[in-house]
Amino acid sequence: MLKTQMSLAQQLTSFKGRHIRSSKELTLDDLNIILKASKYMETAHQRHALPPLLNNLILATLFFEPSTRTRLSFETAMIRLGGNVITVEQGTSSSAKKGERLSDTIQVVSQYSDVIAIRHPSSNSLQGLSSQVPLISAGDGSNEHPTQALLDLYTIYENFKDINGLKIGIIGDLRFGRTVHSLLNVLSNYSVTLYLVSHPSLGLSDEMKAELSSNNISFYETDSIEEVIAELDVLYVTRVQTERLTEPSLFDTIYQEYKDGLFNYQVNLELLNKGKPTVKVLHPLPRTDEISEDLDSDPRATYMKQAKNGIYVRMALLALVLGRIDADLLVK
Ligand code: NCD
Repeated sequence: MLKTQMSLAQQLTSFKGRHIRSSKELTLDDLNIILKASKYMETAHQRHALPPLLNNLILATLFFEPSTRTRLSFETAMIRLGGNVITVEQGTSSSAKKGERLSDTIQVVSQYSDVIAIRHPSSNSLQGLSSQVPLISAGDGSNEHPTQALLDLYTIYENFKDINGLKIGIIGDLRFGRTVHSLLNVLSNYSVTLYLVSHPSLGLSDEMKAELSSNNISFYETDSIEEVIAELDVLYVTRVQTERLTEPSLFDTIYQEYKDGLFNYQVNLELLNKGKPTVKVLHPLPRTDEISEDLDSDPRATYMKQAKNGIYVRMALLALVLGRIDADLLVK
């Protein structure tokens, strides 16, 4: 076996059985493998040549919060690789309604399935949960959404190849947006410059800013997208997480200001035309009003391909944690 293949094989072995609960657990080597495996899945899918890598395996999706893309793309990924799916949607049809502890639910479901994807409304609720099978976070409250960050990273990678050196703007709800938190963790493995654009009340926490600094990531904060648009290679747009504005005073000020157009950050053609012609606009979706529909057919709009990439990245992750990817598949 070649040296490169050997270390790849070792890295692949180290993925088997792993939980993916936080993007902080992923090293640069891990990210490189995930990008490579996702690319393999995309190419094989385009050639109608996906092997049934997950044959006879079962994914359990446990969603205690609404979801369209994340749950369906996990399930599509599993089925396209020959696996099967069992699901609990919205928690309303599960024993959580009867007061069952999350840890008990996981213990039981891990005896029925080979891998679990879980979304839960409480931040940090997945840390410390024990499971006999790999547990993959599909979002925990406003804390993290690691698989979304991986598909965001893959989308940036497929457009720019080298992530180092990119200038990335992130606009919207940096305080409660879990996709933002995980994306920042993942991007901290690269040499990027960040432009953080938000209403002052929805800015990044001091803790996360300190983490960026300790990872030597340069970042610039502003409440005006106009000020930075010309710099950007990537503009990552998020919606205000209105469901997480539970403090009435916060909800009243921000949501009202937003509705009144005082904090209006709608990304539209007029704004984008002030930027580089090569800028790529990403959004984890769902969108509310923060990207105008006139952008949808523009080549700079990348969010629909980004959503499709969720399938390839989740195929890659499922196959990796289930130990079903051989090194020779990735070096071909
Ligand atoms: C995101 C989420 O659930 O955090 N959606 C998704 O999974 N693509 C973003 C959001 O809801 O704003």
